Amino acid sequence: MAQISTDWQAAKEFLEAGNVVGIPTETVYGLAGNALNPDAVLTIFRVKNRPSFDPLIVHTDSLEKLDQFVTSVPESARKLADMFWPGPLTLLLPKRDLISDLVTSGLSRVAVRIPNHTLTLTLLRSLDFPLAAPSANPFGYISPTTAQHVADQLGDQVPYILDGGSAGIGLESTIVGFEANQAIIYRLGGMALEQIEQVIGPVSVRTHSTSNPKAPGMLSSHYAPRKPLLLLAPGESPEPNARAGALVFRQPFGGINADYQRTLSPTGDLNEAAKNLFAHLRTLDSLPIDIIYAEPLPNQGLGWAINDRLRRASAQE
Ligand code: TXA
Ligand code: MG
Repeated sequence: MAQISTDWQAAKEFLEAGNVVGIPTETVYGLAGNALNPDAVLTIFRVKNRPSFDPLIVHTDSLEKLDQFVTSVPESARKLADMFWPGPLTLLLPKRDLISDLVTSGLSRVAVRIPNHTLTLTLLRSLDFPLAAPSANPFGYISPTTAQHVADQLGDQVPYILDGGSAGIGLESTIVGFEANQAIIYRLGGMALEQIEQVIGPVSVRTHSTSNPKAPGMLSSHYAPRKPLLLLAPGESPEPNARAGALVFRQPFGGINADYQRTLSPTGDLNEAAKNLFAHLRTLDSLPIDIIYAEPLPNQGLGWAINDRLRRASAQE
C-alpha cells in the first residue's frame, strides 16, 4: 500500500527515481511523474489505465521554467497567466521538442499549468523537471479530492501519496486554448468563465465532442460514478423511491431517504458546492441505492463546470 505523508522531500526522492506519486493540488489530486522521463510518463498511463490518445497536463512553478517547454505565449494567454497563476487554469501552448509526443499524445500543443498548492509548489521548485499529472483516478471515474481517495483507488500501484489535505476548489482546471488569437475553453473547470472574460473579453466554449476530441475531458461519459446518475431538469423533483439517493444543491428532496441524500451547499454557495461535489458523489456511489438523482445548479460561476460534470456523469454512452 502507498505511504501517505506530508513530507514533500520524500515525494521528491520518489519522483527523481522515476516513480509516480500522488500529489495534492487546489483542483484535484494528481498522479505525477517526471514529464521529461518517458518511462515515468508511460507508468502514468498504465496506472490510470488511460488511453494513449488522451494527453497529460504539465505542471511547473514559474513562467521562466514555462519558457523551456513552449515556443510562444499569445498575448491573451500571458494576461491570463499573469492574472490567475498559480491557479485552476490550464493553457494549451505550442510545445518545444523537449516535451515528448508521449505527453501530448502527438499534438503540437502542450497543456501547462502552475497549480496553487503550497506543498506542491515547494516540491516543483525543488525539482529540475516539470511534472506530468492527470487526475489521480482510474480513467473515466470521479477525480480524487483527498489523499485517501487516491489511496482507495490507486494505493496498490503508487508507492507514495503526498497529503495536502482536501482540495480547496474541488473541480479540475479550466482548459483554455487559442486559435488565431481567439480564446477557446475546451474544459469548464475551477476557474470561472466570467473571471476569464473579465481579463480577455468574450471567449467561446467548445466542450462537446463525440469523436476525436481535442481535449478528451470532453468525452461525454467522463467523471462518472459506477451507479446510474440521472440529472434532473431545473425545478424537477424525483418520484418517491426507497432505493434512490440524491445529490442536491441547498436542501434534500421529500420522498427520498434523507440518509441517501447529500447537500452541496446549504447556503447556496457555488464554490462550496464545487468543493463537495466529487466527495459527495463518491459517498453516494457507495450507498445501497440503485440510482442517484442529481439536481442541476444555477448556470453561473462554478455552476457551469458543476453542471458539465453532472451531465457527463449522467451520459449513458
Ligand atoms: O486540475 C487539473 O487539471 C488536474 C490537476 C491534477 O492538475 N489534472 C487533470 O488532468 O485534470 P486530466 O489528465 O485528468 O485532464 C486533462 C485534460 C484531458 O481531458 C486532456 O485530454 C486535456 O486535458 N489535454 C491535455 N493535454 C492536451 C493537449 N495538448 N491538447 C488538448 N487537450 C489536452
Ligand atoms: Mg481526469
